[in-house]
Amino acid sequence: MGADALGAFSESRVKLVNDYLESNLLRFEKSCSQRFEPLIEAMRYSLEGGGKRLRPILTLSAAEALGLNPKDVLPAACALEYIHTYSLIHDDLPALDDDDTRRGKPSSHKRFGEAVAILAGDALLTEAFGQTLLLSESKKFQPSQILEVVELLAQHAGVRGMVGGQLLDVTINTSEASLPEIEFIHIHKTGALILASVLIPTKLISIDEQKIQNFRRYGEALGLAFQISDDLLDSETSIRYSRGPRKKPKPCYTQVMSPSEMKQKLNLLIDHAINSVSSLGDKSKNLVDIAEFIRARKA
Ligand code: IPE
Ligand code: IPE
Ligand code: MG
Ligand code: MG
Repeated sequence: MGADALGAFSESRVKLVNDYLESNLLRFEKSCSQRFEPLIEAMRYSLEGGGKRLRPILTLSAAEALGLNPKDVLPAACALEYIHTYSLIHDDLPALDDDDTRRGKPSSHKRFGEAVAILAGDALLTEAFGQTLLLSESKKFQPSQILEVVELLAQHAGVRGMVGGQLLDVTINTSEASLPEIEFIHIHKTGALILASVLIPTKLISIDEQKIQNFRRYGEALGLAFQISDDLLDSETSIRYSRGPRKKPKPCYTQVMSPSEMKQKLNLLIDHAINSVSSLGDKSKNLVDIAEFIRARKA
């Protein structure tokens, strides 16, 4: 992990996630035909590309806040990273954002060609659902709880969530986008998967509705805050180190808000996220630290 790491507090969790991702890649390598090795290489290239692991770390932290063992939710946490990684591979394709670099390296299609990049994304998305079923391995969860996680993932990653948001992101007339429209896109495109990361552990334990609502409020505020912080970073540097110059305009907060208004909104959302989990006391520490990371992040 580099300068964009989620803070020292999460180092052990990042290691947990990275080790789990690696063990799965090795499992694929062992269990499928050697002829598929180029696909696994492309999956590995993007999975190991230096991402912050925000989504899986959120899941582990939300699990801990609910008194679950974070290790038991690793299959779902890593499924989220698979879905996130596939979304970035496809997002960079010429048909979508046409970005040549990702995290300071050639994007997947630049490195492997479009066909392999598309297929690596397909494989990651498909395997994410297979991996979620590995939640059964710990023997801690009921099959019905695991099915609820699968439904939650489908709901937030698919047409009702991230993919729906991506559709609007690439089809909207960017110059005419209003604040509510931009917010609607961000809530789906980016917020949905972040919200799912926070909500997954609530499906794996029996808790009261009020607590679920608190997690939902935290996840919704954090998801939007994350996109605002991303747009702010984009506005502060014309070219982010990790990304090349943008070839296509995209709907973003900078079109409808000044940087100081964006910072104000970011602060309000982060405060709201933190307040939403404050009733958990000490157990919310990691969730609060993640929110503070997003408030202050520089990469
Ligand atoms: C980037 O997400 C794309 C957005 C949804 C804004 P991240 O900033 O979490 O990406 P990595 O995985 O850390 O590179
Ligand atoms: C990221 O969105 C992709 C998804 C959320 C699926 P953007 O296109 O806005 O982000 P970057 O700039 O490529 O990371
Ligand atoms: Mg995009
Ligand atoms: Mg993009």
